[in-house]
Amino acid sequence: AAAEKGGFASFMDKEIHDQPQAVADTLLGRTDIAGRLVLDDLRIDESVLRSIDKIVVIACGTAAYAGHVAKYAIEHWCRIPVEVELAHEFRYRDPVVNSRTLVVAISQSGETMDTLMAVRHAREQGSKVLAICNTHGSTIPRESDAVLYTHAGPEIAVASTKAFLSQITAAYLLGLYLAQLRGNKFADEIAEILGQLRAMPDKIQQVLDRAESIRQTAREMVDTSSVLFLGRHVGFPVALEGALKLKELAYIHAEGFAAGELKHGPIALIEEGQAVFVIVPSPRGRDSLHSKVISNIQEIRARGARTLVIAEDGDTDVLPYADVVFYVPQCPTLLSPLLATVPLQIFACELATSRGLDVDQPRNLAKSVTVE
Ligand code: G6P
Repeated sequence: AAAEKGGFASFMDKEIHDQPQAVADTLLGRTDIAGRLVLDDLRIDESVLRSIDKIVVIACGTAAYAGHVAKYAIEHWCRIPVEVELAHEFRYRDPVVNSRTLVVAISQSGETMDTLMAVRHAREQGSKVLAICNTHGSTIPRESDAVLYTHAGPEIAVASTKAFLSQITAAYLLGLYLAQLRGNKFADEIAEILGQLRAMPDKIQQVLDRAESIRQTAREMVDTSSVLFLGRHVGFPVALEGALKLKELAYIHAEGFAAGELKHGPIALIEEGQAVFVIVPSPRGRDSLHSKVISNIQEIRARGARTLVIAEDGDTDVLPYADVVFYVPQCPTLLSPLLATVPLQIFACELATSRGLDVDQPRNLAKSVTVE
């Protein structure tokens, strides 16, 4: 087993470090000789994909957070409304889906029963289903109309890491594919975004190379009983995923919030010493998102929070309000979850390890939940 872990202390640690490769492999071989994007297995007529008027992403757990990121990217690039729903909620509430809906099922294992039942229900309503999956020949892709495989390699640790980054990557490819097919973007625009995507594995590697400071912070926080995570835009699903990782691995109470929602409730939780991670969007963004999040940090710090800030290289605006800053390389905002998630994974893994816990097999959890 030690050899399988490739010198790492756990599969989780190994899989966190596999992420540059997982993302690179998911991007590999996705264009034909004409430079057009291609999917793996497409049993849906392109004319159907041109006429869909809604996308519904269904998934559970970490895969559902990948779906949230997908929504921001696909709506922005393709101008198609995207809903994201937990598969078990979707299945039992009589959702409005029909032959003009593309349902996207995201699943690492391809065997999650809740997601499979939702896939079957969607197909019964006449929807086409596209699976984003990491396991060749598993049930969900077999029962879907199209498949886009993530090439993360086998994920052994129960809590998902490299599958998540690969699912997000696949979702970007799907968004670009639809934008190309439906004529929302010119070929050169798509090529530019693809180029930015192809630069991401190296940037993820840079985040890994800087991991020691986040590990140190995690070790110092071994006795923490509650951590909050705030994010906005694509930083919101990153915050949710950061909180989930900490619950799963370290059994610490953790919640993720949309930063803008803070003043509508969660700010009541802030008291002296409360640890809060804040995922700060790029200051180079189009709008005032960055300054809004900075003022959120100010608000919670003024109420005694200990702020752990994830910000882009060069962002000095955060310094006056951050107890600790973890910088990640610059990249387009929509792609930033591929970087901002990584310190949060490392934090959860290191904190759980410091507590003497088995990060590969957390209590009560299963890698693949094959019952409803
Ligand atoms: C389980 C795992 C999670 C995973 C979820 C969905 O609950 O513990 O890590 O995110 O299932 O799994 P899937 O294989 O469908 O992505």
